[in-house]
Amino acid sequence: RQREKQTLFEAHAYTAKLYHYLLQNTEAAKSAKDYLRSRGFSDKLIEEFGIGYAPARWDTLVQALARQQYEPAEMERGGLLSRKQDGDGYVDRFRDRVMFPIHDGDGRIVAFAGRLMTDGQPKYLNSPETPLFNKSRTLYRLHEAKGSIRRTKQVVLFEGYVDCIKAWWAGVHNGVATMGTALTAEHAALLRRYADEAIICYDGDDAGQAAAQKSIPLLEAAGLRARVGIMPNRMDPDEYVSSYGGEAFVRECIDGAVSAVKFQLIYLRKSHILLEDDGKIRYLSEAVRLVARRESPTERELLLKELAQEFNVSVDTLKQEVVDVRRQEK
Ligand code: CTP
Ligand code: MN
Ligand code: MN
Ligand code: MN
Ligand code: MN
Repeated sequence: RQREKQTLFEAHAYTAKLYHYLLQNTEAAKSAKDYLRSRGFSDKLIEEFGIGYAPARWDTLVQALARQQYEPAEMERGGLLSRKQDGDGYVDRFRDRVMFPIHDGDGRIVAFAGRLMTDGQPKYLNSPETPLFNKSRTLYRLHEAKGSIRRTKQVVLFEGYVDCIKAWWAGVHNGVATMGTALTAEHAALLRRYADEAIICYDGDDAGQAAAQKSIPLLEAAGLRARVGIMPNRMDPDEYVSSYGGEAFVRECIDGAVSAVKFQLIYLRKSHILLEDDGKIRYLSEAVRLVARRESPTERELLLKELAQEFNVSVDTLKQEVVDVRRQEK
């Protein structure tokens, strides 16, 4: 068992080197190289992130791993090869995709994500769950980010691989990404070992904003303070950096991230029509509920003052409501 893991670590390291070599040195990878260029990847970024290319043929890796004396059945268990549809034999799992290596916390490659260069499904093909790779425990780039996370006591959470990479380019070196799965309690507990605060920097589309909503209680339950970077126009961080540049990204989305409750209030507003009185009342009563959940009396007071001012009601009325809600929820 331990021996098999060791073999799989070595096979992943070998495969990553091969894919990277193929991207950087072969004519067959020209479309992959062009694709990466069109998305703003310099050679420096390609090197730093170990990006590669899995060729279109069915047996590039099958042949290469065989030459290295690796057992195909074992490589299939490791998620590098797939069993042929019609019975025996193996084929490459990843074909004609740009390859992103995924490391564990100790910096060993344990999985890959392969992106299609054209529209199609799935856009990203990830390694399956294997003896080396468990999605709900792995965070993309944690091995490189953890030094910076420890120093700053802060981690930035992304949804996407490319978001994490572009943010790193912009100077955000404490960023990690979940990989097509929601943030788990295990992820949050892992991050709490290094950080006091998490900045959620998910996509600005509805799915991303809903995911941010769900991540807040998970992070707070693990003992992390949560803030949220606001993405305008449904952009994702990669698109933001491409449109407005790295400095604007750091200033507006990271340094300018709002507190968890501020984000919850912004989110809540979207589902209420505030032009009418009953819409206002419902919004205020749900807003008060969110404020009541904050543990800090100062934070509660500040938020209530803002709400009172905006809706032209007295702070005392709202305070009384908070007291009632807190009593009910005890
Ligand atoms: N994802 C996945 N499988 C898919 C689609 C998405 O694993 N078929 C994961 C990837 O980790 C991806 C993340 O979910 O990075 C966010 O998805 P999405 O926003 O759709 O992709 P982007 O990261 O924006 O991808 P790109 O910029 O390359 O289009
Ligand atoms: Mn290289
Ligand atoms: Mn998305
Ligand atoms: Mn995205
Ligand atoms: Mn994107």
